[in-house]
Amino acid sequence: MQLGEFLKWYSIIFVLGILSLHHYPALTSLDFFQVCWILVHYYSSNELILVNFSMFFLFIFSLLPSCHWVLAYNITPSRPLLQGQTIVSPGQNFELGFFSPNNSARKYVGLWHRSIFPRKFVWVANRENPLEVTNTLANLRIGSTGNLELIDGKQSSMWSTNISVSTNGSAAVLSDNGNFVLKDDMGVELWQSFDYPSDSLLTNMFLGFNGNSGKQNFLTSWKSENDPSTGIFLVGLSAQTPSQMFIWVNTSTPYWRSGPWDKSKFIGIPEMSAEYLSGFTLDDNVKQETRYFSFTIFDKTLVYLDISSEGITKIMYSNTGENWNLYWHAPKNPCDNYGACGPSGVCKASDTPVCKCLKGFKPKSDEEWSKRNWTGGCVRQTKLFCETHTNKSVSSIGKEDRFLKMENMKVPDIHEYLESLSEMDCKVQCLKNCSCLAYAYLNNIGCLDWSKDLIDLLEFPSRGVDLYIRLSRSELGKCLYLLASCTTFQQQFSFCHIKLRKQSLESTGMIKTYRDGLREYIGKHDSSELKVYDFDSILIATDNFSITNKLGQGGFGPVYKGMLPEGKEIAVKRLSSSSGQGVEEFKNEMLVFSNLQHKNLVRIMGCCVKEDEKLLIYEFMANKSLDTFLYDLTKRPVLDWAARFNIIQGVARGLLYLHHDSYVKVIHRDLKVSNILLDEKMNPKISDFGLARIVEGTQNLENTLKVVGTRGYMSPEYAMGGIFSEKSDVYSFGILVLEIISSKKNTSFCLLDQQLGLLAYAWKMWNEGRGLELVDEVLGDSYSSSQVVKCMHIGLLCVQDNAANRPTMPDIVLMLTSDIDGLQPRRPVFTIQNSIPHSQPQYDNTNSYTNEATITVIRGR
Ligand SMILES: *[C@@H]1O[C@H](CO)[C@@H](O)[C@H](O)[C@H]1NC(C)=O
Ligand SMILES: *[C@@H]1O[C@H](CO)[C@@H](O)[C@H](O)[C@H]1NC(C)=O
Ligand SMILES: *[C@@H]1O[C@H](CO)[C@@H](O)[C@H](O)[C@H]1NC(C)=O
Ligand SMILES: *[C@@H]1O[C@H](CO)[C@@H](O)[C@H](O)[C@H]1NC(C)=O
Repeated sequence: MQLGEFLKWYSIIFVLGILSLHHYPALTSLDFFQVCWILVHYYSSNELILVNFSMFFLFIFSLLPSCHWVLAYNITPSRPLLQGQTIVSPGQNFELGFFSPNNSARKYVGLWHRSIFPRKFVWVANRENPLEVTNTLANLRIGSTGNLELIDGKQSSMWSTNISVSTNGSAAVLSDNGNFVLKDDMGVELWQSFDYPSDSLLTNMFLGFNGNSGKQNFLTSWKSENDPSTGIFLVGLSAQTPSQMFIWVNTSTPYWRSGPWDKSKFIGIPEMSAEYLSGFTLDDNVKQETRYFSFTIFDKTLVYLDISSEGITKIMYSNTGENWNLYWHAPKNPCDNYGACGPSGVCKASDTPVCKCLKGFKPKSDEEWSKRNWTGGCVRQTKLFCETHTNKSVSSIGKEDRFLKMENMKVPDIHEYLESLSEMDCKVQCLKNCSCLAYAYLNNIGCLDWSKDLIDLLEFPSRGVDLYIRLSRSELGKCLYLLASCTTFQQQFSFCHIKLRKQSLESTGMIKTYRDGLREYIGKHDSSELKVYDFDSILIATDNFSITNKLGQGGFGPVYKGMLPEGKEIAVKRLSSSSGQGVEEFKNEMLVFSNLQHKNLVRIMGCCVKEDEKLLIYEFMANKSLDTFLYDLTKRPVLDWAARFNIIQGVARGLLYLHHDSYVKVIHRDLKVSNILLDEKMNPKISDFGLARIVEGTQNLENTLKVVGTRGYMSPEYAMGGIFSEKSDVYSFGILVLEIISSKKNTSFCLLDQQLGLLAYAWKMWNEGRGLELVDEVLGDSYSSSQVVKCMHIGLLCVQDNAANRPTMPDIVLMLTSDIDGLQPRRPVFTIQNSIPHSQPQYDNTNSYTNEATITVIRGR
């Protein structure tokens, strides 16, 4: 044929083709050009046939504009799928045909969403057995056995459905949900592509298995982006109950894990609880031993879940039907890699480094760990009690292992499911069995426990679950345990040998050391509420104890403001590390404080002990201490009378709690304005329990070797004789009340050249009936004179020399809320207050840097 002829016929057929494409979108342009080419070639030697053929073509196209192109959605014995042709599902969602991945020399039969680009081949038939790209004669047909088969140009099978088909006339149909189905002549399904997933899961497809038939459905990744043959990654469900979704690498090594299914979501995928709650189902039929996972989101067909050749599983969707958008993917960060931090390591993506050991565990190899090789994981620091005490005995009561609650966790892998146990039984069950390392009680699941290595633990920023880790008791209440054991400090400090409990001493006739007392005390009181903070997190919170964060100087070390990552403000008291100063007070404060709770006491949140560093962590008080208002001319007016009265009442209630209402009687011994902290609403909270002493109920007087306290607040009997009782606190309270009324310091008070102390002055005014003249002049006339008189009266009753004459805290709280009877205060001895520091020059220099400082006076015997 001449070139002119060729072009003529080619253009005729081209025009016909354009027309047909217009009417039959099921035909692709590729089909069309191939058809043109073949026709022109084939008939070029016979014009007549060609003309007839083209007339026939024209005839068909013009008469049947609304008919389906018969090849559009099925393959029958008489109609194979040739190269260049595709079949399309009735609703035009999916298309099936030959394809070659980008630049690949191989050809496959595959299935894709028809209109969306770039094409995603959601199913590939001959993925292990590609055709050469040059093989133009291969086709997909219904073979003689009734099977669907792909044959190459030499009629040998490249791929087959390979089932036994008993009928003739089977046909392969592409459905609108993307399922390619082989049916017999009665329309019964013989084979479907949904049972043989490649790397993608469509809506209406399932991952999972059938225990009866042994059939399992996995997704398997492509080998590479352009090679559909089976790669190294697998996605499927685990055989555990409740099940988890996994990515495995090299067929069996876990690579990523979803966490257990809780009947609506996988709990290790926190995003699911918010955005992806609906649309996922996991049918778990225990009887039939089947378990299927499927999903539906948005428009059911324009979505798929797949596994990439790099091991990323993702869900893609299309709004427009034109392009793909990412909906979800995993793994997302280093922590998503299975077992990223090794056994008993916890991964937190927001931390650097991401791995840390579970509390109570340490790196198996410090060397590897410091090189950021986490694979070795962590090992237990302290053996479990149950490991070393296999025989239960009375002496083990109270020493059993405990559980540490960890929040926002992804639970570890390899759980056991203890169905139908209550939460309490779940805990007990775990505690009873020494091989149980952790448990969790989860919504919609119930009791899970773990007895293997705790592997693949993650801490999420939010939305994780609570996990309870078994730990030796000593790892838990470490703040108090440190105290109780006294081992490291024993040689350095005599702290452990101070007598604590006179009562037990009397009852047993034995001298109980402080240490024993503490042991006993800790045995009775659960200390695990007290949190042990990590030193590094405190460093971050306080910006390396920056000077700008310094709130002030407490009796035994500076106090810093800090901000925890979750935005909570804290106050951190830092014990001067090297001097050894204040260790005793530090421990004391921890001990006394941790088990006290009252709204007028500052709450201790925890401690932090690392080598020489000893820190106490408190709730933060927005308005600092009372003295910053009382003795500051500009801030004084903020304290109107109502605020002052409220403070007096609050302090009284706090002291009442310490002296009478808490289960141990506590004497504060260092009550003063700088130890009264104010919250954002100016409510007072008593702080600084470094000098406080726990005393037994019957024991009121304690004789100590050291006289500690603050000049100006010490009762005469204590300052002179070292005898303290709750009445010493009452005395200090009295001073405090007079100071609050007057905004004047007891210690530095000077009036009209008369060297009178505040006490003497108040007394003088009271006796002369001029009590109201004591009131801070910034208040002007705006105060309740009856309340002022009442407070002054109470103040003077509290500072009487004879402790027996002073009221108790219950008396005081009562007086504050009702009318006072006619009790008249006795005249105090004013001289003692100012003479003490001068007559006792050995007081502790480090703590006497201001008049307000706590002093320690060692009295000779
Ligand atoms: C077809 O199935 C039979 C057994 O069911 C198996 O032995 C044979 O290898 C399969 N052939 C192909 C091509 O998969
Ligand atoms: C990481 O540590 C483990 C032991 O904990 C060791 O076997 C492995 O070789 C280390 N890997 C590298 C890359 O150093
Ligand atoms: C524990 O009890 C068993 C049997 O009562 C006894 O044989 C064993 O010696 C005990 N072990 C210890 C450490 O007391
Ligand atoms: C303790 O737990 C292990 C591991 O789950 C289990 O094999 C063992 O039977 C349990 N022992 C008891 C006494 O329940």
